[in-house]
Amino acid sequence: MEDAAVQSVGRSGGIVIKDDWPGYSLDLFSYPEHYSGDLDCVFIPHGVIIDRTERLARNIMDDLGDHDIVVLCVLKGGYQFCVDLVDRINALSRNSNRTIPMRVHFIRLKSYLNDQSTADLHIVGAEDLSFLAGKNVLIVEAIVGTGKTMEKLLKHVEAFQPKMIKVAGLLVKRVPHNAACLPDYVGFEIPDQFVVGYALDYNEYFRDLDHICVINEKGKMKYKIEKEELQKEANAIQQKA
Ligand code: IMP
Ligand code: MG
Repeated sequence: MEDAAVQSVGRSGGIVIKDDWPGYSLDLFSYPEHYSGDLDCVFIPHGVIIDRTERLARNIMDDLGDHDIVVLCVLKGGYQFCVDLVDRINALSRNSNRTIPMRVHFIRLKSYLNDQSTADLHIVGAEDLSFLAGKNVLIVEAIVGTGKTMEKLLKHVEAFQPKMIKVAGLLVKRVPHNAACLPDYVGFEIPDQFVVGYALDYNEYFRDLDHICVINEKGKMKYKIEKEELQKEANAIQQKA
């Protein structure tokens, strides 16, 4: 595919972070000591994430104000964005005569091994979503990479016949072959690189980091897990579900 589409600016409606953005030096911010040496840079500082989320909340309020909505939070990566987004929507509801009555529901998806997307996507806790029939649904996801996860999730949710489905994605990656569907509300459009923090993980690490950061090679090696180990973990999750 020609790279022009990949480079096109603002396709998603989010703040565009260009491919040559080096991030901020780690020395300029504070972050947990246990991750020192594992990160390359602060890619998006926590405060900027919060400010952008506040604006997304306003856009959602403008579009969906006075509708009842069911927020479908995609775990685990989406929890922090979901908490902050719902919080900001609630604040707007408190301070205006338009409100959005919200219910929040959680589902868990898992598809990544180390920093690679894998074909087998597990949906945990989404078996019966029949209560979504006729409802307005807002899916809240932290990051859309190849778009495969979102495509699969949308198909799954559509089968329960909600009245409307909107998607809020904090980050969208510019990847060469990403699926046609973009979230309705996008925080940032970022280059195709692996990011962690603000609940986004690398093999379950880095969720306890406020800023969105780029992990370095040392960090990747330190927290790498082998495929067999992950398979064991996946089997354990499936047995419990
Ligand atoms: P997709 O199917 O490639 O769009 O990947 C979406 C899922 O992969 C997200 O729900 C995340 O859990 C995970 N993911 C994709 N890119 C990243 C990343 O850069 N950091 C952490 N997790 C990611
Ligand atoms: Mg993950």
